[in-house]
Amino acid sequence: MGSKALEEALLIIKVMDAPRFIVFEGIDGSGKTTQALLLHHWLSRRGYKVLLTEEPTRDLLTGYFVKILLRSKDRYPPITYLSLFLLDRLAHQEKEIKPALQEGKVVISDRHHFSTLAYQTAMGIEREVIDRLTDFIFQDFFWPDLVIYIDLPPEEAMKRVESRGKTSSELFEKIEFLRKVRENYLKLAEEYNFLVVDGQRNPVSIHEEIVKKLEPLFPPK
Ligand code: ADP
Ligand code: TYD
Repeated sequence: MGSKALEEALLIIKVMDAPRFIVFEGIDGSGKTTQALLLHHWLSRRGYKVLLTEEPTRDLLTGYFVKILLRSKDRYPPITYLSLFLLDRLAHQEKEIKPALQEGKVVISDRHHFSTLAYQTAMGIEREVIDRLTDFIFQDFFWPDLVIYIDLPPEEAMKRVESRGKTSSELFEKIEFLRKVRENYLKLAEEYNFLVVDGQRNPVSIHEEIVKKLEPLFPPK
């Protein structure tokens, strides 16, 4: 095979390996939504059809229930949150992610499975319980092909999000909690080989770093 033909063959193999299900993870306020949107625009400009989605889901009843529970000041047993996140994920997969992948779209989700591992273990639930319940609920679990984790210290993330209306003790509790969540994410990043990006830069340079990694996998159509 000539070197040009070999190059082309390698490109085809690479593109066949391109991630079709991409997930952004990070603590609240780390910049996931911003980066997911920028990546959506970039892929669309390159000619790809994209579903930009999120968890808790935006348009499904399961997501609506999760959001009501999260907004409530009343606290529930941690397993209640875990169960609802998993039910919302199942509905998300079956009603939105699966059809989009079948239509040949690239799916970008703002949060997925690793949010549950990072947050619900920080709430005190054993990892084994999460794994068992996930296995029980899903017959065929869709793992993301690529997880992009945006790393940011909780203090920085909290500065970015609206903190008005919160007392300083609530904020402190939240920062302590997010510290645990971040530690969990960093361990998961090693275990599952996430693409880790430093979130302490302006949105455009973060986007450029992500795109540099993805460019060879998504040639313009
Ligand atoms: P998340 O979805 O992770 O909660 P967002 O993308 O909604 O985070 O960002 C939280 C806030 O921080 C928003 O007001 C957003 O405009 C701002 N923001 C996002 N990325 C950056 C960045 N790299 N530097 C500074 N501010 C940012
Ligand atoms: P959201 O408003 O989507 O936060 P953000 O803009 O930071 O993504 O709220 C989702 C909250 O739910 C967030 O604090 C993370 C948490 N969460 C879990 O604890 N477990 C999960 O499985 C998911 C999907 C989210």
